[in-house]
Amino acid sequence: MASTCCCEEKTQKPNIFLPREATIVRVDKPTDMERHFTLRMADGQPMEFQPGQIVEASLFGFGEIPLGFASSPTRKNTFDLVIRTVGRVSGAINKLEKGQSIFIRGPLGRGFDLDKLRNRDLLIIAGGIGLCPTRSLIQYVMDKRSEFKRFILFYGTKDPKQQLFLEDLSQWRGSKEVEYHETVDKADPSWKGNVGVITTLFKKTKIDPETRVVVCGPPIMFRFVIAELDKLGVRRENVFVDLERRMKCGVGKCGHCQINDKYCCIDGPVFSFAELQGLEEAI
Ligand SMILES: Cc1cc2nc3c(=O)[nH]c(=O)nc-3n(C[C@H](O)[C@H](O)[C@H](O)COP(=O)(O)OP(=O)(O)OC[C@H]3O[C@@H](n4cnc5c(N)ncnc54)[C@H](O)[C@@H]3O)c2cc1C
Ligand code: FES
Repeated sequence: MASTCCCEEKTQKPNIFLPREATIVRVDKPTDMERHFTLRMADGQPMEFQPGQIVEASLFGFGEIPLGFASSPTRKNTFDLVIRTVGRVSGAINKLEKGQSIFIRGPLGRGFDLDKLRNRDLLIIAGGIGLCPTRSLIQYVMDKRSEFKRFILFYGTKDPKQQLFLEDLSQWRGSKEVEYHETVDKADPSWKGNVGVITTLFKKTKIDPETRVVVCGPPIMFRFVIAELDKLGVRRENVFVDLERRMKCGVGKCGHCQINDKYCCIDGPVFSFAELQGLEEAI
């Protein structure tokens, strides 16, 4: 049998199918449906990733699900995931407490191309749970603020109770580093802000046509947002969307996430809107 020499072992790529243990160091309960986990890899290695990339998170006996990073790689040692309880795996993970573990494969996929966003005006449009993957980018921009020009953020939810990351929101509301605008579809007596769908926020500010735009939210939102951006003259190659598609393997092997010749798990989940044109079922 051929033996493997030590230099071959050193150059071997990490096994993309092998989950690594991550310990829960903090759990927050932002809404009844979501849990916000802060995790640290049990082997002490930092998680190196780009905003917009994903992980496959698993719990033994339940299964594995794709999730976006909800924190920036600039915040070292730990990383955040926000999980909405929708079914078997998300429900089981969301019952875990501080000190318990989940298993992680990743980072996976193509995140935001930061070189295309740097030194430009940047508008991020996040609807609902779409704030989770964009929070990774928002924190990144805030931590490296001088690398970006004007920074505008639109955030919309169905009602005020659905708002996530309340500490972040109050910081952004008072910050000079980001022009933050928020809306709810339906107000309650506590709400003093804008009421209406997310596109109503376009009236609040002027957007330069050369602005780079990141959109993340429910598919219905994309269509209306793109129509507004078209009116403003923003080119579709400058609009980036974070697509949520059913994924299984996360590494381009099973075909679950395929749209024509694109695999969301390796070609995405971040695509420019121009790349998605012609892919009928993409949005
Ligand atoms: C690229 C990507 C990033 C994601 N990021 C996050 C994240 O940061 N936080 C988060 O909470 N969720 C995220 N999701 C969705 C998450 O993966 C699903 O909610 C999860 O797979 C559901 O698994 P389950 O076993 O809990 O539910 P299941 O028992 O499999 O399904 C329960 C219900 O959820 C619906 N569902 C299943 N998968 C999805 C899906 N991919 N999208 C929408 N609905 C689904 C099913 O139709 C069913 O109605 C992401 C998905 C993708 C593809
Ligand atoms: S999830 Fe298996 S090919 Fe993309």
